[in-house]
Amino acid sequence: MTLQTLTIIKPDDWHLHLRDGEALEAVIGHTARQFARAVVMPNLKPPVTTVALAQAYAARIKQAMVKAGIAAGSFTPLMTLYLTDNTSPDEIVRAKESSGAIAVKLYPAGATTNSDAGATDLLGRCSKVLETMQRVGLPLLVHGEVTDPAADVFDREALFIDRVMIPLRKAFPALRVVFEHLTTKDGVEYVRDAEGPVAATLTPQHMLYNRNSIFQGGVRPHFYCLPILKREVHRQALLDAATSDSPRFFLGTDSAPHSRGLKENSCGCAGCYTALHAMELYATAFDQAGKLDRLEAFASLRGPDFYGLPRNTETVSLHRGSFVIPNELSFGQETIVPLAAGETLGWKFG
Ligand code: DOR
Ligand code: ZN
Repeated sequence: MTLQTLTIIKPDDWHLHLRDGEALEAVIGHTARQFARAVVMPNLKPPVTTVALAQAYAARIKQAMVKAGIAAGSFTPLMTLYLTDNTSPDEIVRAKESSGAIAVKLYPAGATTNSDAGATDLLGRCSKVLETMQRVGLPLLVHGEVTDPAADVFDREALFIDRVMIPLRKAFPALRVVFEHLTTKDGVEYVRDAEGPVAATLTPQHMLYNRNSIFQGGVRPHFYCLPILKREVHRQALLDAATSDSPRFFLGTDSAPHSRGLKENSCGCAGCYTALHAMELYATAFDQAGKLDRLEAFASLRGPDFYGLPRNTETVSLHRGSFVIPNELSFGQETIVPLAAGETLGWKFG
Protein backbone atom coordinates (compact mmCIF):
# COMPACT_ATOMS: atom_id res chain seq x y z
CA MET A 1 0.00 0.00 0.00
CA THR A 2 1.31 3.49 -0.77
CA LEU A 3 2.27 5.57 2.18
CA GLN A 4 -0.35 8.25 2.86
CA THR A 5 1.21 10.12 5.77
CA LEU A 6 4.87 10.64 6.51
CA THR A 7 5.72 11.76 10.04
CA ILE A 8 9.24 13.00 10.66
CA ILE A 9 11.21 15.00 13.21
CA LYS A 10 10.65 18.70 12.52
CA PRO A 11 13.16 19.80 9.85
CA ASP A 12 15.58 22.74 9.77
CA ASP A 13 16.56 24.87 6.79
CA TRP A 14 20.37 25.14 6.65
CA HIS A 15 20.40 27.91 3.98
CA LEU A 16 17.80 30.68 3.83
CA HIS A 17 17.40 34.31 2.72
CA LEU A 18 15.00 36.27 4.93
CA ARG A 19 15.82 39.86 3.81
CA ASP A 20 14.75 42.72 6.07
CA GLY A 21 11.89 45.15 6.79
CA GLU A 22 8.59 44.51 4.99
CA ALA A 23 10.03 41.64 2.97
CA LEU A 24 11.14 39.85 6.13
CA GLU A 25 7.69 40.33 7.65
CA ALA A 26 6.09 38.87 4.53
CA VAL A 27 8.18 35.69 4.42
CA ILE A 28 9.07 34.74 8.00
CA GLY A 29 5.77 32.93 8.63
CA HIS A 30 6.35 30.50 5.76
CA THR A 31 9.69 29.26 7.04
CA ALA A 32 8.58 29.20 10.67
CA ARG A 33 5.62 26.99 9.75
CA GLN A 34 7.76 24.21 8.28
CA PHE A 35 11.12 24.55 10.04
CA ALA A 36 12.31 24.78 13.64
CA ARG A 37 15.56 26.59 12.78
CA ALA A 38 17.14 28.22 9.76
CA VAL A 39 20.62 29.40 8.88
CA VAL A 40 20.02 33.00 7.81
CA MET A 41 22.20 34.35 5.01
CA PRO A 42 23.98 37.66 5.64
CA ASN A 43 23.74 39.21 2.14
CA LEU A 44 21.76 42.25 3.18
CA LYS A 45 22.56 45.75 1.97
CA PRO A 46 24.86 46.56 3.72
CA PRO A 47 26.00 43.01 4.53
CA VAL A 48 25.99 41.49 8.03
CA THR A 49 29.73 41.55 8.71
CA THR A 50 29.97 41.69 12.51
CA VAL A 51 28.49 39.92 15.52
CA ALA A 52 26.86 43.20 16.57
CA LEU A 53 25.13 43.47 13.17
CA ALA A 54 24.10 39.80 13.33
CA GLN A 55 22.59 40.28 16.78
CA ALA A 56 20.70 43.36 15.64
CA TYR A 57 19.42 41.43 12.60
CA ALA A 58 18.35 38.51 14.84
CA ALA A 59 16.41 40.99 16.98
CA ARG A 60 14.61 42.33 13.87
CA ILE A 61 13.75 38.75 12.86
CA LYS A 62 12.28 38.18 16.32
CA GLN A 63 10.24 41.40 16.05
CA ALA A 64 8.93 40.26 12.67
CA MET A 65 7.95 36.95 14.29
CA VAL A 66 5.97 38.79 16.96
CA LYS A 67 4.20 40.84 14.26
CA ALA A 68 3.40 37.68 12.31
CA GLY A 69 2.01 35.99 15.44
CA ILE A 70 4.73 33.33 15.56
CA ALA A 71 5.28 32.04 19.10
CA ALA A 72 8.71 32.98 20.44
CA GLY A 73 10.75 29.80 20.74
CA SER A 74 8.87 27.96 17.99
CA PHE A 75 11.46 29.14 15.44
CA THR A 76 15.13 30.00 15.92
CA PRO A 77 17.18 31.97 13.39
CA LEU A 78 20.84 30.87 13.29
CA MET A 79 22.91 33.85 12.25
CA THR A 80 25.91 34.04 9.91
CA LEU A 81 28.64 36.58 9.15
CA TYR A 82 29.52 37.80 5.67
CA LEU A 83 33.22 37.28 4.95
CA THR A 84 35.01 40.33 3.51
CA ASP A 85 38.67 41.11 2.91
CA ASN A 86 38.53 43.06 6.18
CA THR A 87 36.95 40.47 8.49
CA SER A 88 39.15 40.22 11.59
CA PRO A 89 40.15 37.08 13.52
CA ASP A 90 38.78 38.81 16.67
CA GLU A 91 35.33 38.87 15.12
CA ILE A 92 35.51 35.09 14.64
CA VAL A 93 36.42 34.58 18.29
CA ARG A 94 33.58 36.91 19.29
CA ALA A 95 31.11 34.96 17.14
CA LYS A 96 32.17 31.68 18.72
CA GLU A 97 32.21 32.90 22.31
CA SER A 98 28.90 34.76 22.13
CA SER A 99 27.15 32.22 19.84
CA GLY A 100 26.13 35.37 17.94
CA ALA A 101 26.85 33.66 14.62
CA ILE A 102 27.17 29.95 13.87
CA ALA A 103 29.10 30.24 10.60
CA VAL A 104 30.77 32.57 8.12
CA LYS A 105 29.55 32.86 4.52
CA LEU A 106 31.86 33.25 1.56
CA TYR A 107 30.36 35.09 -1.40
CA PRO A 108 33.15 35.39 -3.97
CA ALA A 109 32.97 39.10 -4.95
CA GLY A 110 30.51 39.50 -7.82
CA ALA A 111 29.16 35.91 -7.73
CA THR A 112 25.51 36.71 -6.98
CA THR A 113 22.93 39.03 -5.34
CA ASN A 114 24.61 41.55 -2.98
CA SER A 115 28.04 39.96 -3.21
CA ASP A 116 30.05 43.09 -4.06
CA ALA A 117 31.63 43.22 -0.61
CA GLY A 118 32.67 39.57 -0.81
CA ALA A 119 36.20 38.27 -0.37
CA THR A 120 38.52 38.83 -3.33
CA ASP A 121 41.56 36.88 -2.16
CA LEU A 122 40.55 33.99 0.07
CA LEU A 123 43.87 32.30 0.70
CA GLY A 124 45.77 35.59 0.87
CA ARG A 125 43.92 38.30 2.74
CA CYS A 126 41.55 35.95 4.59
CA SER A 127 44.09 33.36 5.74
CA LYS A 128 44.29 34.53 9.38
CA VAL A 129 40.50 34.48 9.60
CA LEU A 130 40.31 30.98 8.10
CA GLU A 131 42.99 29.78 10.50
CA THR A 132 40.96 31.14 13.43
CA MET A 133 37.75 29.55 12.14
CA GLN A 134 39.54 26.23 11.83
CA ARG A 135 40.90 26.56 15.38
CA VAL A 136 37.62 27.53 17.08
CA GLY A 137 35.43 25.28 14.90
CA LEU A 138 33.30 27.89 13.12
CA PRO A 139 32.18 26.52 9.72
CA LEU A 140 32.75 28.28 6.39
CA LEU A 141 29.67 28.26 4.14
CA VAL A 142 30.66 28.59 0.53
CA HIS A 143 28.91 29.97 -2.53
CA GLY A 144 30.90 27.69 -4.80
CA GLU A 145 31.17 29.47 -8.13
CA VAL A 146 34.16 31.13 -9.76
CA THR A 147 33.53 34.74 -10.77
CA ASP A 148 35.87 34.73 -13.77
CA PRO A 149 33.74 36.45 -16.45
CA ALA A 150 35.35 34.20 -19.08
CA ALA A 151 34.02 31.08 -17.35
CA ASP A 152 30.82 29.64 -18.81
CA VAL A 153 27.96 30.10 -16.34
CA PHE A 154 27.22 26.36 -16.41
CA ASP A 155 30.85 25.48 -15.57
CA ARG A 156 31.40 27.85 -12.67
CA GLU A 157 30.81 25.33 -9.90
CA ALA A 158 33.06 22.63 -11.37
CA LEU A 159 35.83 25.21 -11.89
CA PHE A 160 35.43 26.39 -8.30
CA ILE A 161 36.29 22.91 -7.01
CA ASP A 162 39.68 22.92 -8.71
CA ARG A 163 40.52 26.58 -8.33
CA VAL A 164 39.26 27.29 -4.79
CA MET A 165 37.87 24.32 -2.88
CA ILE A 166 40.84 21.97 -3.27
CA PRO A 167 43.51 24.59 -2.42
CA LEU A 168 41.36 25.92 0.47
CA ARG A 169 40.89 22.51 2.05
CA LYS A 170 44.51 21.60 1.51
CA ALA A 171 45.59 24.73 3.39
CA PHE A 172 42.96 24.25 6.15
CA PRO A 173 42.21 20.52 6.30
CA ALA A 174 40.33 20.69 9.61
CA LEU A 175 38.16 23.68 8.61
CA ARG A 176 34.49 22.71 8.58
CA VAL A 177 33.12 23.61 5.15
CA VAL A 178 29.61 23.49 3.70
CA PHE A 179 29.42 23.62 -0.09
CA GLU A 180 26.12 25.49 -0.30
CA HIS A 181 23.40 24.76 -2.87
CA LEU A 182 25.39 22.12 -4.71
CA THR A 183 24.26 21.76 -8.33
CA THR A 184 26.58 19.37 -10.19
CA LYS A 185 27.67 15.74 -10.36
CA ASP A 186 31.24 17.04 -10.02
CA GLY A 187 30.26 18.72 -6.74
CA VAL A 188 28.51 15.60 -5.46
CA GLU A 189 31.55 13.44 -6.17
CA TYR A 190 33.88 15.95 -4.55
CA VAL A 191 31.83 16.25 -1.35
CA ARG A 192 31.10 12.53 -1.13
CA ASP A 193 34.73 11.47 -1.49
CA ALA A 194 36.74 14.30 0.09
CA GLU A 195 38.59 13.72 3.32
CA GLY A 196 37.73 15.81 6.35
CA PRO A 197 34.72 17.78 7.61
CA VAL A 198 32.91 18.79 4.44
CA ALA A 199 29.19 18.72 3.68
CA ALA A 200 26.71 20.23 1.21
CA THR A 201 23.21 21.66 1.17
CA LEU A 202 20.78 20.84 -1.62
CA THR A 203 17.85 22.97 -2.80
CA PRO A 204 14.47 21.66 -3.95
CA GLN A 205 14.77 23.34 -7.37
CA HIS A 206 18.07 21.65 -8.21
CA MET A 207 16.65 18.26 -7.19
CA LEU A 208 13.39 18.66 -9.15
CA TYR A 209 14.30 20.60 -12.29
CA ASN A 210 17.00 20.71 -14.93
CA ARG A 211 17.98 23.68 -17.09
CA ASN A 212 15.25 23.01 -19.67
CA SER A 213 12.78 24.41 -17.14
CA ILE A 214 14.26 27.89 -17.54
CA PHE A 215 13.45 27.89 -21.26
CA GLN A 216 10.28 25.80 -21.59
CA GLY A 217 8.01 27.68 -23.99
CA GLY A 218 9.86 30.95 -23.36
CA VAL A 219 12.10 32.43 -20.71
CA ARG A 220 10.80 31.53 -17.26
CA PRO A 221 12.48 33.91 -14.81
CA HIS A 222 11.11 32.24 -11.70
CA PHE A 223 13.32 29.23 -12.44
CA TYR A 224 16.41 31.41 -12.56
CA CYS A 225 18.69 31.18 -9.54
CA LEU A 226 22.43 31.03 -8.88
CA PRO A 227 24.04 28.62 -9.20
CA ILE A 228 21.85 28.14 -12.29
CA LEU A 229 19.91 24.89 -12.91
CA LYS A 230 22.08 22.34 -14.70
CA ARG A 231 21.69 19.35 -17.09
CA GLU A 232 19.58 16.30 -16.21
CA VAL A 233 22.65 14.18 -15.36
CA HIS A 234 23.47 16.65 -12.59
CA ARG A 235 19.92 16.73 -11.23
CA GLN A 236 20.00 12.95 -11.04
CA ALA A 237 23.33 13.01 -9.17
CA LEU A 238 21.91 15.45 -6.61
CA LEU A 239 18.82 13.33 -6.07
CA ASP A 240 20.99 10.23 -5.66
CA ALA A 241 23.18 12.05 -3.11
CA ALA A 242 20.23 13.37 -1.09
CA THR A 243 18.60 9.95 -0.93
CA SER A 244 21.86 8.07 -0.26
CA ASP A 245 23.05 7.19 3.22
CA SER A 246 25.92 9.69 3.15
CA PRO A 247 25.67 12.01 6.16
CA ARG A 248 27.19 14.84 4.11
CA PHE A 249 24.12 15.97 2.14
CA PHE A 250 21.34 17.86 3.88
CA LEU A 251 18.51 20.33 3.37
CA GLY A 252 19.06 24.00 2.54
CA THR A 253 16.30 25.63 0.51
CA ASP A 254 18.15 28.78 -0.58
CA SER A 255 14.66 30.29 -0.69
CA ALA A 256 15.45 33.78 -1.99
CA PRO A 257 12.53 36.21 -2.24
CA HIS A 258 12.55 38.89 -4.94
CA SER A 259 9.47 40.85 -5.98
CA ARG A 260 7.70 39.79 -9.16
CA GLY A 261 8.82 43.05 -10.81
CA LEU A 262 12.48 42.43 -10.08
CA LYS A 263 12.28 38.87 -11.45
CA GLU A 264 10.20 39.66 -14.57
CA ASN A 265 12.63 42.31 -15.68
CA SER A 266 15.11 42.98 -18.49
CA CYS A 267 17.83 42.07 -16.00
CA GLY A 268 15.97 39.78 -13.61
CA CYS A 269 17.26 38.88 -10.14
CA ALA A 270 18.47 35.37 -9.28
CA GLY A 271 16.52 33.40 -6.70
CA CYS A 272 13.66 30.90 -6.34
CA TYR A 273 11.07 31.35 -3.61
CA THR A 274 10.36 28.02 -1.90
CA ALA A 275 9.77 28.85 1.77
CA LEU A 276 6.01 28.42 1.36
CA HIS A 277 6.17 24.84 0.07
CA ALA A 278 9.70 23.59 0.69
CA MET A 279 8.77 20.31 2.36
CA GLU A 280 6.11 19.52 -0.27
CA LEU A 281 8.76 20.06 -2.97
CA TYR A 282 11.37 17.88 -1.23
CA ALA A 283 8.77 15.16 -0.55
CA THR A 284 7.88 15.18 -4.25
CA ALA A 285 11.54 14.69 -5.20
CA PHE A 286 12.11 11.90 -2.66
CA ASP A 287 8.85 10.22 -3.68
CA GLN A 288 9.88 10.31 -7.36
CA ALA A 289 13.10 8.55 -6.35
CA GLY A 290 11.13 5.97 -4.32
CA LYS A 291 13.09 7.07 -1.23
CA LEU A 292 10.60 8.77 1.09
CA ASP A 293 12.13 6.77 3.93
CA ARG A 294 15.32 8.88 3.57
CA LEU A 295 13.60 12.28 3.84
CA GLU A 296 13.87 12.51 7.61
CA ALA A 297 17.64 11.98 7.67
CA PHE A 298 18.11 14.60 4.93
CA ALA A 299 15.71 17.18 6.38
CA SER A 300 16.03 16.72 10.11
CA LEU A 301 19.06 14.71 11.25
CA ARG A 302 22.19 15.28 9.18
CA GLY A 303 22.17 19.09 9.42
CA PRO A 304 22.19 19.34 13.22
CA ASP A 305 24.69 16.48 13.37
CA PHE A 306 27.11 18.35 11.10
CA TYR A 307 26.73 21.60 13.04
CA GLY A 308 26.98 19.83 16.40
CA LEU A 309 23.53 21.07 17.45
CA PRO A 310 20.80 19.01 19.11
CA ARG A 311 18.25 17.36 16.84
CA ASN A 312 14.69 18.70 17.15
CA THR A 313 12.25 16.62 19.18
CA GLU A 314 8.86 17.76 17.85
CA THR A 315 7.43 15.93 14.81
CA VAL A 316 5.57 17.13 11.69
CA SER A 317 3.56 15.29 9.06
CA LEU A 318 3.26 15.36 5.30
CA HIS A 319 0.10 13.97 3.75
CA ARG A 320 -0.53 12.66 0.27
CA GLY A 321 -3.09 14.92 -1.45
CA SER A 322 -3.18 17.73 -3.97
CA PHE A 323 -1.58 21.01 -3.19
CA VAL A 324 -1.93 23.75 -5.80
CA ILE A 325 0.97 26.19 -5.54
CA PRO A 326 -0.47 29.74 -5.49
CA ASN A 327 0.20 32.00 -8.48
CA GLU A 328 1.49 34.75 -6.24
CA LEU A 329 1.88 35.76 -2.62
CA SER A 330 1.81 39.15 -0.95
CA PHE A 331 5.22 40.71 -0.39
CA GLY A 332 4.86 44.12 1.29
CA GLN A 333 3.57 46.53 -1.35
CA GLU A 334 4.40 44.01 -4.07
CA THR A 335 3.95 40.31 -4.81
CA ILE A 336 6.20 37.32 -5.11
CA VAL A 337 5.82 34.32 -7.43
CA PRO A 338 6.70 31.04 -5.73
CA LEU A 339 8.67 28.33 -7.54
CA ALA A 340 6.42 26.24 -9.81
CA ALA A 341 3.47 28.62 -9.28
CA GLY A 342 0.20 27.15 -10.49
CA GLU A 343 1.51 23.57 -10.55
CA THR A 344 -0.04 20.85 -8.39
CA LEU A 345 2.06 18.79 -5.98
CA GLY A 346 1.08 15.43 -4.53
CA TRP A 347 2.03 16.27 -0.94
CA LYS A 348 0.74 18.67 1.71
CA PHE A 349 2.57 19.77 4.83
CA GLY A 350 0.76 19.86 8.20
O1 DOR B 1 19.72 32.65 -6.64
C1 DOR B 1 20.29 33.16 -5.69
N1 DOR B 1 19.69 34.12 -4.94
N2 DOR B 1 21.52 32.81 -5.41
C2 DOR B 1 22.26 33.42 -4.48
O2 DOR B 1 23.38 33.04 -4.28
C3 DOR B 1 21.73 34.59 -3.75
C4 DOR B 1 20.27 34.57 -3.72
C5 DOR B 1 19.66 35.88 -3.29
O3 DOR B 1 20.10 36.43 -2.27
O4 DOR B 1 18.74 36.35 -3.93
ZN1 ZN C 1 21.68 31.55 -0.96
